[in-house]
Amino acid sequence: MLAVAVLAAGKGTRMKSDLPKVLQPLAGATLVERVLSSCERLQPERRLLIVGHQAEQVEQSLSSHGGLEFVLQQPQQGTGHAVQQLLDPLAGFTGELLVLNGDVPLLRPETLQQLLEGHRASGAAVTLLSARLADPSGYGRVLAAHDGRVEKIVEHRDCTEAERQVNLINAGIYCFNWPQLAAVLPRLRSDNDQGELYLTDTVALLSPAMHLEVADADEINGINDRLQLAQCEAVLQQRLREHWMREGVTFTDPASCTLSEATRFGRDVVVEPQCHFRGASSIGAGCRIGPGCLIESSTLGEGCQVLHAVLRQAEVGEGCAIGPFTQLRPGTRVGPGSHVGNFVEIKNSTLAEGVKVNHLSYIGDADLGAAVNVGAGTITANYDGVNKHRTVIGAGSKTGANSVLVAPITLGSGVTVGAGSTLTKDVPSGALALGRARQLVKENWPGPQG
Ligand code: UD1
Ligand code: CA
Repeated sequence: MLAVAVLAAGKGTRMKSDLPKVLQPLAGATLVERVLSSCERLQPERRLLIVGHQAEQVEQSLSSHGGLEFVLQQPQQGTGHAVQQLLDPLAGFTGELLVLNGDVPLLRPETLQQLLEGHRASGAAVTLLSARLADPSGYGRVLAAHDGRVEKIVEHRDCTEAERQVNLINAGIYCFNWPQLAAVLPRLRSDNDQGELYLTDTVALLSPAMHLEVADADEINGINDRLQLAQCEAVLQQRLREHWMREGVTFTDPASCTLSEATRFGRDVVVEPQCHFRGASSIGAGCRIGPGCLIESSTLGEGCQVLHAVLRQAEVGEGCAIGPFTQLRPGTRVGPGSHVGNFVEIKNSTLAEGVKVNHLSYIGDADLGAAVNVGAGTITANYDGVNKHRTVIGAGSKTGANSVLVAPITLGSGVTVGAGSTLTKDVPSGALALGRARQLVKENWPGPQG
């Protein structure tokens, strides 16, 4: 039987933020979500989250995660005090307790698996993850013998000068035999620099206490301030890019691009410099993205080209060319083989296949049929100051440059709109519509000189 407890009650003072530390985002997911997902594979019987500082906000952010038990720690008197709150909810529990720090978000599931298996195999009372760091400052130091037995953990601020030289640090991830831990938890004392109850002090009270050194020290990066947040983001971004490069994606300047965990790429996608993918975006095989794109929660079919564009909650069919300098806003659906060009903004609109909107247009709340050709500078005037209205343009229609279509309006199929027209009435299929002043020419005009 396995129970997992995530420590997430602390204030996170060093972040200097109004947001609880464990809700800070990293590559599109909060710290606590990342910690929770790192232990999913172990299929724990119980998952307990210790909350305290801004507890409601933390609970609410996890409302879509089922099966979590929230345990309130009020006030917050240290990591040992946090785990003492489990004495009640885990009364009678006889399995292992895996304790995860809510601010250590880069752990790999395999590492936790190893920790659990190693702990079970050795029969230790506690096994903790450790790492050797070139710069161990800030972390608790693990004082251990060569056989992996831990004598004690000393927090950085409580270290003697000699102890501070130790570069083996405590990752804040522990696998305890719960009944043995439960027996020593009441013995914790707050005789340390912070006057808190330290979970790390249980290690000296448990025997045998073992440690497992992680091979990749990046995994156990703890986040206490914005610098460490940025460092973890960098590690995570590197992992994500490497993953997709192994899956057949080319990045011409990897370090300049950022990804979210939920973004998916097909084979032979080429990502040029300065491209950013957020949310659950899906990029079809053979697309060429960038330079300079922001793609959020959007889907691109195979073989699209997107250059200097911003896409948000947009769906683009295969073989489209988008950009440069295009904005596709939420609710945009672009049919296959369409072209959307420079200085074009599209919102809440459906474009069928083979549509061209190449220059200087706003298309909002509109439905465009197949092979519609939108002339340069065409605007759908969708807003009357109170309500939004739809524009419908039938298949094969063509609008001249600088047309304004005042919605609600429906143009049939095969309609031609003369350049510079402002249309306020529906146009039947196959018609030519002109809505502009007739050109006046006065011959032999004397000109400014008179
Ligand atoms: C802790 C460890 C340290 C280790 C480091 C690894 C202790 C005493 N020290 O130090 O040995 O090297 O993590 O990152 O455990 N929390 C609560 N309730 C509290 C206090 C903290 O839930 O009363 C939570 C925090 O929200 C956080 C976690 O426990 O998620 C760790 O607390 P933090 O204050 O960041 O501990 P560190 O000083 O980093
Ligand atoms: Ca910490």
